[in-house]
Amino acid sequence: MNTIDLACQHFRDLLQEQMLRIEKAPQEKMHFETGKKVTIGLIDGDGIGPLIMAQALRVLKTLLADEIAAGTVVLRKIEGLTIENRLALGVSVPQSVLDEIRSCDVLLKGPTTTPKGGGLESANVTLRRELDLYANVRPVSIPEEGIDWVFYRENTEGEYALGSRGIELPGMAVDFKVTTDMGTRRIARAAYDYARQNGKNRVSIVTKANILKKTDGKFSAVCHEIAAQYPEITTDEWYVDIMSANLVNPAVRSQFQVVLLPNLYGDIITDEAAQIQGGVGTAGSANIGDRYAMFEAIHGSAPRMLEAGLGDYANPASILRAEAMLLRHICRSDAAGKLEKALQNCPVIVTGDRDGATGKSYTDTLLTML
Ligand code: IPM
Ligand code: MG
Repeated sequence: MNTIDLACQHFRDLLQEQMLRIEKAPQEKMHFETGKKVTIGLIDGDGIGPLIMAQALRVLKTLLADEIAAGTVVLRKIEGLTIENRLALGVSVPQSVLDEIRSCDVLLKGPTTTPKGGGLESANVTLRRELDLYANVRPVSIPEEGIDWVFYRENTEGEYALGSRGIELPGMAVDFKVTTDMGTRRIARAAYDYARQNGKNRVSIVTKANILKKTDGKFSAVCHEIAAQYPEITTDEWYVDIMSANLVNPAVRSQFQVVLLPNLYGDIITDEAAQIQGGVGTAGSANIGDRYAMFEAIHGSAPRMLEAGLGDYANPASILRAEAMLLRHICRSDAAGKLEKALQNCPVIVTGDRDGATGKSYTDTLLTML
């Protein structure tokens, strides 16, 4: 068979697989309640991951001490999701790790290293797909500037769905982007529900539908369909290039409230937003599905920090913000509130280098503020 026919066959298989994915019944919704038993899986990750997770664990154990003692909160350490192990086994998430993850209700996860190129898929992408964590929720706030943004990034589709399964032909490479009605509806609903329940009156959709007419065109159309069910909320739409400019424009940026984006634009824009807040080390990230949810730092595993001997100076603030989101998600709002307040007021400055405090001394102070 010639290379073009082979590529067409590959494409056909991908389309069939995607069809099956969107026809699957949605997972049953997990219901959390104060005092109801919950199992929290803890995954260290790579690079600075184990260092910031150690600080996050100290805080979690302090906040939930009574419930841990009473057995209504179970902390389960999950080993084996290291880059060394994943490379040795040649899989992005080993099956035994996935099984253990599925025995938990929610996860707190340190950053995992994603190899560039090659065949190994990012562990994040695999977990988001396997657990169907379709909403990536990333809040960014700068109270003194009146900025209070919450990004709802679609987390299972777009360029990510088939990102490691593109086609290479002689002298040419092709990747695919997938946008579905089902996938867009559920993220749009999540964003608008959040807006409605939290007194927000504006949702901003981000696309590049002038260029990606089919996929972003669909994202835009479906989001507007959902928007019509929330007449009290104003909807506007921006192309991703001007949106990235808007965020660095002090004259307009504080007007944004909830921002609804496809996967890749969400990835890029939320790093920009986190940087505006004070650095990618400062923002938390929640990956939420109907059954499972995974909370993590917005940043990566920072191998360069370890190479420079700066591991102790890694900022645990991002994973701690994710931890506060986890506590809210499982309806431990007392604990969540305490942590949010302490994070907002902690006077210790971590800069990621020797000019700033260590992650441990930051956490020492934070613990006294809970
Ligand atoms: C993020 C990260 C991931 C992504 C990487 C680690 C795969 O950048 O969570 O934003 O691209 O989604
Ligand atoms: Mg990112």
